[in-house]
Amino acid sequence: MTAASPPPSPWQASVLTLFPEMFPGPLGQSLAGRALREGRWGLDAIDIRGFATDRHRSVDDTPCGGGAGMVLRPDVVDAACAAALAAGPDRPLVVLTPRGVPLDQRMVRGFAEGPGVVLLCGRFEGIDQRVIEARGMLEVSIGDYVLSGGEPAALVLLDACVRLLPGVMGAAASGEEESFSAGLLEYPHYTRPTQWNGLAVPPVLLSGNHAEVARWRREQAEMLTRTRRPDLWARHGSATPHALDGQVNAA
Ligand SMILES: C[S@@+](CC[C@H](N)C(=O)[O-])C[C@H]1O[C@@H](n2cnc3c(N)ncnc32)[C@H](O)[C@@H]1O
Repeated sequence: MTAASPPPSPWQASVLTLFPEMFPGPLGQSLAGRALREGRWGLDAIDIRGFATDRHRSVDDTPCGGGAGMVLRPDVVDAACAAALAAGPDRPLVVLTPRGVPLDQRMVRGFAEGPGVVLLCGRFEGIDQRVIEARGMLEVSIGDYVLSGGEPAALVLLDACVRLLPGVMGAAASGEEESFSAGLLEYPHYTRPTQWNGLAVPPVLLSGNHAEVARWRREQAEMLTRTRRPDLWARHGSATPHALDGQVNAA
């Protein structure tokens, strides 16, 4: 499936999958869907099965060494990667896998600032390691749990990137102040009514004093990060290098 291609898209995602009909899926709705229709990004879902060469169109085989399940073949996956990269060779080739580097906002920003991404979705037990290494793929995980396929992980990664593309989010500032952008979780939000079920909006937010509001929000963000995410707090303000520094945009 190739979603509305013209006009030329400045950011192009190609997804290699056994289930191309899963795309754009939720990315065809709301902000991402509108941006797709406006040509602010492009999406190309490529069926890995189209690169099978035998008469059974096989894409997988049993694991060498024994064990349950099936493994995606390196020759078929490699041919699919070559076809995707032909349409944009400067894009990083990412394989979604639970043993990858955890996806975070810094990585997302790196992807969003580049020309796009090529995402390889695994199925079954996974993908033959030789093609992952031969192609120098970036191995990325969306969390410490196991999905049945890489497609939901690809949708997560794309959603996070697309909202950062120029013109996709309504207010440019909303991407800068939210969680993780400054290494902190975001402060809590409130709206009207100012009294609800006996619960009041914090008075400082109704004071009109912008400096006090900013100070309160900063304190809340720091307190939440310290208590909920000590790992983030420990890194906050330090110059700890990122696991994929230099790779996300260096394809
Ligand atoms: C059933 S999983 C394979 C799990 C693999 N045998 C393991 O134990 O790590 C099938 C595919 O789902 C995708 N997947 C599963 N969990 C994921 C995660 N947390 N992040 C990214 N991709 C994931 C990968 O593409 C993987 O090849």
